Amino acid sequence: MAFSKLLALLSVVVVASAGPMVLHEWRAAAPSGFIRHGAAPANEMITLRVALKSNDVGSLEEKLKSVAAPGSSDFRQWLSMDEVKTFIQPSPETVSAFNAFASANGLTPTVISPNGDWVSITLPVSKANQLFAADFETFTHPNLKSSITRTLSVSLPSELVGHVDVLHPTTAFVTPDARLVPSAPQIRKRGPAASCNSSDPAGVVTPTCLQDLYGIPATPATEASNTILVTGYEDSWAQRADLSQFLTLARPDMPPSTTFTLLTTDNGTDPQDPHGSTGNLEANLDIQYTAGIATGVPLSFLSVGGADFPTSLLDTTTFLDGVENPPTVMTTSYGAIESNFGASMATKICNGYMALGARGISVVFASGDGGVRGNHDFSLICANNTFLPEFPATCPFVTSVGSTQGFAPEKAMNLTGGGFSNFFPTAYYQTAAVAGFLETVPDDFAGIFNKTGRGFPDVSLQGWNFELVSGGEVWLEGGTSASSPTFASIIALINDRLISAGKPVLGFLNPFLYSKGASAFTDIMIGHNSGLICPASSVAFDATEGWDPLTGLGTPIFPDLLAAALAPTAACTTPSTLDPCSIAYLASPEAHPLHTPHLLCLHSWFHYGCVHHTFDHHGALHALALSSPPSQPLTPSCGGV
Ligand SMILES: *[C@@H]1O[C@H](CO)[C@@H](O)[C@H](O)[C@H]1NC(C)=O
Ligand SMILES: *[C@@H]1O[C@H](CO)[C@@H](O)[C@H](O)[C@H]1NC(C)=O
Ligand SMILES: *[C@@H]1O[C@H](CO)[C@@H](O)[C@H](O)[C@H]1NC(C)=O
Ligand SMILES: *[C@@H]1O[C@H](CO)[C@@H](O)[C@H](O)[C@H]1NC(C)=O
Ligand SMILES: *[C@@H]1O[C@H](CO)[C@@H](O)[C@H](O)[C@H]1NC(C)=O
Repeated sequence: MAFSKLLALLSVVVVASAGPMVLHEWRAAAPSGFIRHGAAPANEMITLRVALKSNDVGSLEEKLKSVAAPGSSDFRQWLSMDEVKTFIQPSPETVSAFNAFASANGLTPTVISPNGDWVSITLPVSKANQLFAADFETFTHPNLKSSITRTLSVSLPSELVGHVDVLHPTTAFVTPDARLVPSAPQIRKRGPAASCNSSDPAGVVTPTCLQDLYGIPATPATEASNTILVTGYEDSWAQRADLSQFLTLARPDMPPSTTFTLLTTDNGTDPQDPHGSTGNLEANLDIQYTAGIATGVPLSFLSVGGADFPTSLLDTTTFLDGVENPPTVMTTSYGAIESNFGASMATKICNGYMALGARGISVVFASGDGGVRGNHDFSLICANNTFLPEFPATCPFVTSVGSTQGFAPEKAMNLTGGGFSNFFPTAYYQTAAVAGFLETVPDDFAGIFNKTGRGFPDVSLQGWNFELVSGGEVWLEGGTSASSPTFASIIALINDRLISAGKPVLGFLNPFLYSKGASAFTDIMIGHNSGLICPASSVAFDATEGWDPLTGLGTPIFPDLLAAALAPTAACTTPSTLDPCSIAYLASPEAHPLHTPHLLCLHSWFHYGCVHHTFDHHGALHALALSSPPSQPLTPSCGGV
């Protein structure tokens, strides 16, 4: 009793002496590579973006869980732009709290997002330091064209606590090397593909090779409403002449005039330079492997201007928030070390992907090219066993794609990004899959990683020796940059078939992939993700049977994934008592002793009681039973888990 009184007294004292400021986000130091140049000039004007708290992001998350869950009554009934806005926009109380703060301090906020959840303010450094108890300094980085202004710590006045989620740029330091193509591409003489084997030094991967390997059809898509979007950052620009040359070389069955629609935001551009340097390799790889695999699917390239990667990611989501008929799939081959974003900015960006998923967009990201050590590994970090997860690949609302190499057997590639988030907990759809993997990690494992984090990647496919055209020359490239557009294209082709069949598109994929879709993947069981540069003896994860943080669920088998996507969710034709559909799924849980069954209440099943799921270590559903007899007759939507 006396002790707790003392504690209470102490906390009062601490608050009083700190004034009305509440610490919002901080870091001990800038990430390595950034050079500190002292206080930013007091009169330097900075523009801060302020994320106003969404009025009900929790309900959007619950809604998305339901809509994305195979078997739910509202399965794949994706939300409209306006429906999403009702969850994301700030409440009137939040808007007036911020406006009162702004006018009391002579600031003029400008609303900068369609959902009203971002505003910007422009103010001198001295004032920003005072209002947010910050200490803005100037930093440079060898890879940055100009200096940046950042602070190691930022606070909120107490009247904004609970109303403001993020101030940016403050404590986020993201290095400008977010492209996920390894840095040393090779050029080769143009000629016929030597072999369709990415383990063979003379082998190359082409669209035809990927079609053969994964059973991807070459027949053109038919649905004009189904668009795939490639995002472009860091001044890497998709080239129309290179795409045409690539199609002539690699898809002679397609019209070489097949091209993309250019979209831009933040003053993005897409200059067409016939002698483009290596700078366009990333965009060319992404556009060529979407055009070349998603045969006939309308293709867009979103060129995002600006030099700050977190801002660019964010502005991609706010751009799509304002598009009435958005693409059904978006692929991004960029990422950076998760911790460099800071938790508040990473969470806000990730919630942006949640909102896109709820609208029926499959958000696909490359998982990183540094194995367990971030986007790119380099010799100085090989001996450091604190693994570096990659963002946005760690966001639970994106589908993160790793890389494999070779055939018969297909193996995890050394560079395939994978591991566990430090910001986002293990996602609800992957708990059994992740638990199965963790059991294979030895007790004396030297790697330091977060066992309670969201595991990534979710899936994988080939990622090395991809043939492409850039600047009129034929190149071989690779990395998860190659895998992500290819996987996104598979999803786009499945969406085309779904729309033709009068069904909604796949949207937020992961709950489907980890349940009904899991058997449509080839499990990859060999490989060690020590990185492209770090020696194979470096501490890293090993691929195993079942899900692993190198290849996720494995590599896709197109016909099986299409069948799983098309399968009716209405398996119960005889609504009665307990329960034809659950009996159909009731394998023997005892045969899978690795995992204790767990209870999961699916939102839309609530009137039937809880649904008892058992998963095997592949993350596939092995048993499903209702914990209590249904209180209403089973409807035709009940059986499709
Ligand atoms: C692929 O190439 C590697 C390296 O040359 C070779 O060992 C392997 O047998 C080849 N695989 C197939 C299926 O041809
Ligand atoms: C875009 O260009 C306009 C005009 O030059 C400029 O005022 C604006 O700040 C730019 N926007 C961004 C996001 O860079
Ligand atoms: C290893 O990496 C972690 C995470 O980046 C960092 O905090 C730590 O200082 C590094 N250790 C050494 C010895 O460089
Ligand atoms: C590990 O992940 C959990 C869940 O996301 C998080 O709360 C925790 O802070 C993380 N631990 C570290 C050391 O980052
Ligand atoms: C990783 O794999 C690639 C492709 O096979 C190879 O070129 C590279 O040398 C490997 N890295 C290491 C460190 O062995």
